[in-house]
Amino acid sequence: MRIVPVRLGERSYSIKIGAGLLARLGGECARLKLGRRAAIITDANVGPLLASAAQNSLLAAGFDPVLITVPAGETAKNLKFVQACYDQLAAHRLDRQSFVAALGGGVVGDLAGFVAATYLRGIPFVQVPTTLLSQVDSSVGGKVGVNLAAGKNLVGAFYQPRLVLCDLETLKTLPPRQFASGLAEVIKYGIIYDAPFFARLERHLPRLLAGEAKVLTAVIARCCEIKAQVVGQDETEGGLRAILNFGHTIGHAIENISGYGKYLHGEAIAIGQVLAAGLSVLQHGLAAAESGRITRLFTRAGLPVSIKLTPAQRRKLCTAMLLDKKVSAGEVKFVLAKRIGAVNYGCRVPQALIERVLAGASKPV
Ligand SMILES: NC(=O)c1ccc[n+]([C@@H]2O[C@H](COP(=O)([O-])OP(=O)(O)OC[C@H]3O[C@@H](n4cnc5c(N)ncnc54)[C@H](O)[C@@H]3O)[C@@H](O)[C@H]2O)c1
Ligand SMILES: [Zn+2]
Repeated sequence: MRIVPVRLGERSYSIKIGAGLLARLGGECARLKLGRRAAIITDANVGPLLASAAQNSLLAAGFDPVLITVPAGETAKNLKFVQACYDQLAAHRLDRQSFVAALGGGVVGDLAGFVAATYLRGIPFVQVPTTLLSQVDSSVGGKVGVNLAAGKNLVGAFYQPRLVLCDLETLKTLPPRQFASGLAEVIKYGIIYDAPFFARLERHLPRLLAGEAKVLTAVIARCCEIKAQVVGQDETEGGLRAILNFGHTIGHAIENISGYGKYLHGEAIAIGQVLAAGLSVLQHGLAAAESGRITRLFTRAGLPVSIKLTPAQRRKLCTAMLLDKKVSAGEVKFVLAKRIGAVNYGCRVPQALIERVLAGASKPV
């Protein structure tokens, strides 16, 4: 097992990574001296696979868990399901000492975390992320929340879990496309922060794709460390945290114009990162050879690296980028790479250059 400490003063906690950790959920919660009543919030896919293991572990450690199951997929990140969860917490008489355990991917983590952050003005919560994306990204950093009709993640809070348990065994049932989608965030950490890690990913990708526990543990731990370090320096998103959005400005716009659901998030940001690397070559001094390594690694991970757009779709994409909530004063700011492992945020990019990269030109003139 690997432990990644997240140092946030009195809100510090550990991320534990290893095979078979779900069975230790109860013991870990007992160590944290959490109250007896608990709620496991999960979704309709994950529940049948993993909820009984979570329940049994909690029961064996003397807890009294109630199981709350929401629909699978993004639709659950909705105030309607927040309300449904509150009602069940109240019916089960959870008090200030009780806790919420999120068992599922990023959707469940964001929803359950928001429920925990707000029920009785906040009760403890623990995360058991079960997708690669949630293990390396959404369970770290303390952002929780739900969507509104007007857009994603528009209601939420910064609320840290008391513990994150990443059990590698849970990934065994994850569909390969979802696993690859998580790899897009994994590769991102190499590009934005850690060139040797990127090189290790290049070497060990086959073992990672085969789900080898040793490699997977080391990779997840390094991603959590990087995200925790970045978030630790900028907990509420004033500056540095922006680097985590590498590839996301274009990626979100791709998700948006193609209708949510066509591309998984990781797929859209894989394309977004390759295009951001293209912009970086044109105006940030990234070597074309490094941009090539980036494209190759995404391709080998089974992710898309380009998108064919008509001129009309290209315009729509640019408009969608302007509507991104990270846009300030009507200007899209990009995270661009100087080299693999070193990026800058807040970069201005002339519209014409964006159009050129979108049209497929990524070579310097
Ligand atoms: N809070 C943050 O900082 C943050 C960061 C990144 C993403 N997110 C959010 O995370 C969400 C995406 O997370 P996700 O990609 O994990 O999606 P998800 O939670 O929808 O999970 C993807 C699919 O896999 C299924 N699944 C989950 N675990 C499984 C398992 N072990 N075996 C089989 N199937 C399993 C789920 O039921 C779902 O159908 C988005 O809502 C996004 O906004 C939040
Ligand atoms: Zn992302």
